Parts: sequence; structure tokens; C-alpha cells
Amino acid sequence: MPAPNIDTIVSLAKRRGFVFPSSEVYGGLGSAWDYGPLGVELCNNVKQSWWRWLVYERDDIEGIDSSIILNRLVWKYSGHEATFHDPLVDCRECKSRMRADKLEGYFPAGDHAVQFDANERLRGGLVKCANCGSTNLTDERYFNMMFRTTLGAAAAEEDPAALAYLRPETAQGIFINFLNVQTTMRRKIPFGIAQVGKSFRNEITPGNFILRTREFEQMEMEYFVKPDAEHLKLVDEWVELYVEWFKGLGIDGRNLMLHEVPADELAHYSKRTVDIMYRYFPERPEEERQWEELMGIAYRTDFDLRSHSNKPVDEEGNRINAESTEDLSYFDESTKTRFYPHVIEPAAGVNRTVLAVLMDAYSEKTNDKGETRVILKLAPQLAPIKAAILPLAKNKPEIVGMAKAIKRSLQPTLRAVYDDTGGIGKLYARQDEIGTPLCVTVDHQSLEDEAVTVRDRDTWEQERVKVSDLPEHLQRRLQQ
Ligand code: GAP
Repeated sequence: MPAPNIDTIVSLAKRRGFVFPSSEVYGGLGSAWDYGPLGVELCNNVKQSWWRWLVYERDDIEGIDSSIILNRLVWKYSGHEATFHDPLVDCRECKSRMRADKLEGYFPAGDHAVQFDANERLRGGLVKCANCGSTNLTDERYFNMMFRTTLGAAAAEEDPAALAYLRPETAQGIFINFLNVQTTMRRKIPFGIAQVGKSFRNEITPGNFILRTREFEQMEMEYFVKPDAEHLKLVDEWVELYVEWFKGLGIDGRNLMLHEVPADELAHYSKRTVDIMYRYFPERPEEERQWEELMGIAYRTDFDLRSHSNKPVDEEGNRINAESTEDLSYFDESTKTRFYPHVIEPAAGVNRTVLAVLMDAYSEKTNDKGETRVILKLAPQLAPIKAAILPLAKNKPEIVGMAKAIKRSLQPTLRAVYDDTGGIGKLYARQDEIGTPLCVTVDHQSLEDEAVTVRDRDTWEQERVKVSDLPEHLQRRLQQ
């Protein structure tokens, strides 16, 4: 039973130290969230799982970490300066500001591909405000979603020479480093470059907790292949691999769905995109409104490497990029040909993965006293804490000493905590709620037989284990 709605996770996340509303002491900052002690561990575990899976376990992927602020020309030639924008409208009645293309009535009924004049529809009263239902809306205007900043202490705010952007995707840092990675690591196509890091978008309507925020983290990989590779099939292959990876993180396949993005909704660089959707809104009665994008897998063609290169020319023979100092083409030794590699891009969000993982791990169980307990059935590899060491009696120095010594001995190899801030029932309940797979209890008998009780989070079953066998026992259980 996954969480019934996102609100259940918001409340658990705040109560147990996963995610806090940001800047709360100043009244908050719309749709900004801070990750607490358990949240940062969960995020790190998701990112590590992804990195291990792609960079360590495969032979064809390298990792990088590029700057967040890149030369402005990167965003000029990537197309983001000209096209990374959303249509915006204001409601004259309730003063809300909204993304126009998300409003009821924006598109003519039926086919999205049909040509239409959005402002004509807005003026004709066909489009409804999402907040108050009024049709008294302004014309739409386009709003670029990149955050602007100025570089250098002396730069005037409006100085175009000092203008820079916070990256809206990690992908461009990979493209501009394609040759650096390929030559230094002596890579042959096909190979990929992975990067994980923060991205920033000045979203018009952020919301739904960590689902859509202005600052977020992406895990992107650009997979470079030959121009004549089977690109559309490769998209399907990567979709399949990612669906399996999500399932390995504990997400039920029934809460994942594939969405083929219609041609008229594709990003400017994409020839095909398949989104993997997660059921973030199970409470909505209409099935089609329950889903939101978890990640996208796009076929980006050779668009980016060409755009950042100084050699390609347009139909009139003019260079498409006279400002680049490099040609990012690749020389294929086997065929003695030079070309711009094509790219398959799986692009996932860390925060959306964390939210999906939390929602899917959420469950409730009733104990023998009829009390309902929350159990967060996180996959052990993702659990912020792997084992909690609990003394049965905190006023018995020998028991406390033994529990603390066990915790210290486990610490170098797994994340363990010691807790004596309540009765054993309460301590178990707290660990269940934060997803700790195993609890280790030290009791009076432990002092006699050098053994402890290991309790399983999901079944509540208990097993007696010798302290000398404990590290190996826990490692084995955590890998199951
Ligand atoms: N390089 C391609 C790219 O950035 P995208 O579909 O715009 O593609 C990829 O973003 C993923 O990044 C999304 O599927 C989502 O998981 C995450 N993402 C995008 N915008 C986000 C936002 N405002 N808040 C949280 N996550 C976001």
C-alpha cells in the first residue's frame, strides 16, 4: 500500500527529519525545501545507487562534474536563450499568474498538433483560470525560465557582457566536455558521460512538494552513438533499463507508466522522447490525472555537438556557430570517417525519484494492541540508517556500554545509530517510520551470552545473533 497522497509524505518528511520547508524562520520561500539529516542520506543513497549502476557496473560510461555557471554562449547555442520559455498569463480577477498551456481550454479540443492562435482563444473567453475559474485572462507572453546573474564584482546589473545563467539542465556541461572526456579517457563510440548536480528553472507554477521546484537535482547521462545507430530502438532499451532500475529501488511497476511525448510537445532538440511517469496522485479519481513525469529518455540527435562546433554550416553556407573555438566531431578509426555523434539522453530528477521512493515505501501496519504504525519499507540500499542499536534498559550501565560498543564497531562499514530516548516499543516504532531495516537490541541476557536480538522492520520477526557474528549477519540481511 503506497502513500495515499503526497501530503502524507510531506507530514512524515517534516516530522521525522527528511525534508523541511526552506527559510521557515522568515515565513518560508515558495516551493523551496531543505533536506534534513535523513533526507540528505536518502538523496545521497539514490545518487550513489545511480552512479554505481551506470559508472561502476558498466564499462562504457564515464562521470564528470561541470560548473553550474557556464559561459553564456553555451545557452545561446544550446537554444535555451531563444526557446527555453513557457507561456504565461495573469488572471485579471484573482491576480494569479499561471502557465497558460496548463489551463483548461488552452488547446482546441482533440488534436494538439492543430495550429491555433492562443491569444484569440484567451480573448474569446475559452480559457479558464486554474484558481478562480474566470475567463478574464490577459494575453499570453513568453517567459524565459533561466535564472539570470551577473559575473564579477564591478559588473552593473544590466551589463550584457556580465550576464550569465544558472544552468537549467546538467546536460550542456557534458556536451561541451565531450572531446575532453573522449580523448583523455581514450573512449570509442558508443560510450556515455554521466553527471549529477543541481539545476535551476524559474518555474511559473512550482508546487506539489519536491515534485516541481525552482532548484532541483538531476542525474543525466548522454550516450554517444554513431549517426546510423538504431536511435529509436536505443531509446526503448534505455527506457527498459531505467524501469528495472526504479523497480530495484523498491518502486512497484504498477506505479510506473510510459508516455510517448507527442511530436508537437517535443523539446527543440528532441526527435523522440519517452517519459517514465510515476503515480504521484493516487487520490485522483481519474486515472489519467494520477501521473506525472519521473524522468525522460530523449533522442537528441547530433543537435548539441553540432551547435557547439565551429565547422557546421547552414543551408546558405554560413557557419551556425562562429563563436565556438572547437569542433566537437569524432574521428572513427575503424571506418576512417569523421562525424558528430548522435545522443540518447536518459534524464532523471533526484528529487522526483526520492518522492516516488518515499511514496512507494510508505505502508501502515496494526500491532497487537490495535495501534496503527507507519512502516517505511525502503530498499536497504536507500535506507538512511541501516541499523539502530537499542539498549533494553538505559539505566543499566553495562547494557548501555555494550550497545554503544556494538554501534562503534559497526560504524566504519555501515550507517548505525544508538538510541535510548524511549521505551523499546517507541524506539522500534520510530525506526520503522524512518525505514531502518534492522534494529539490534541489547538486553540483560546479552551480558551473559554475548548475543543480541535482531528485529526485522517489515515482518517484526526477531532473531538471536552472536555479537561476534553480527557484522556479517547484518551485511547479509541488508543485501537481501
Ligand atoms: N536534459 C534534459 C532535461 O533536462 P527535463 O525533462 O526538462 O529534461 C529531466 O528534465 C528531469 O529533471 C525531469 O524528468 C524531472 O525528473 C527533473 N526536473 C525537471 N524540472 C524539474 C523541477 N522544476 N523540479 C524538480 N525536478 C525537475
